[in-house]
Amino acid sequence: MDDPAQAHAYAEADFSEANGLFLDRFARLDPSPPTGARVLDLGCGPGDITLAFARRYPDCHITAIDGAEAMLSHARCALEGDPDLRGRIRLECLRLPSSSLPREGFDILLSNSLLHHLSDPDVMWRTLRHCARPGATVLVMDLARPADADAVDALVATYAADAPEVLRNDFRNSLFAAYEPAEVEAQLRRHGLGHLRVQEISDRHLSVEGRL
Ligand SMILES: C[S@@+](CC[C@H](N)C(=O)[O-])C[C@H]1O[C@@H](n2cnc3c(N)ncnc32)[C@H](O)[C@@H]1O
Repeated sequence: MDDPAQAHAYAEADFSEANGLFLDRFARLDPSPPTGARVLDLGCGPGDITLAFARRYPDCHITAIDGAEAMLSHARCALEGDPDLRGRIRLECLRLPSSSLPREGFDILLSNSLLHHLSDPDVMWRTLRHCARPGATVLVMDLARPADADAVDALVATYAADAPEVLRNDFRNSLFAAYEPAEVEAQLRRHGLGHLRVQEISDRHLSVEGRL
């Protein structure tokens, strides 16, 4: 998502429902994260979830990475506007897979809506294994691929009818590119992560949750 117009449209859009779902899932999964928890947010985009997470957990320190400077610039702007968070959030432009990934034994690994962007989904699970400590809390949320093109059209009509065209197309392409829960389960098994739970959590989202 390197195109500034696309990044702008994404940053301006209202994803509060999906972002709220993500934060609520996390609160249920890990009701009391360790003090000073080190958090990695993969594919943070404009940083809405990153900043909301940092506000909700005032002890945590977050490293948030994204491969598109156009998206990160919106996160940088949001961070500028919130001096209280500046010391606790580090934003890095990194495109996965990357050899310069921080290997810091993160306590918490978050990712929303990145998996379907990766041409090789194994990159997500390798990255997770590389960066997170044993026992780390994992929450990966993404779109779930609908059964057929009619189901895609129905979701686009329900959730993006009034959205700008660039976002409507993004949403449509993303639904087609997304994985079905059984495909994600197979990916996890390949990486020895079969104990993480894959669930359909809305009419268009799935989550991968558990401890590493
Ligand atoms: C749909 S956005 C989600 C952003 C954010 N997580 C959210 O929930 O609003 C997907 C993000 O993944 C980033 N991305 C796509 N491929 C990537 C890659 N290979 N490495 C790092 N970031 C990537 C894009 O630049 C984009 O910002």
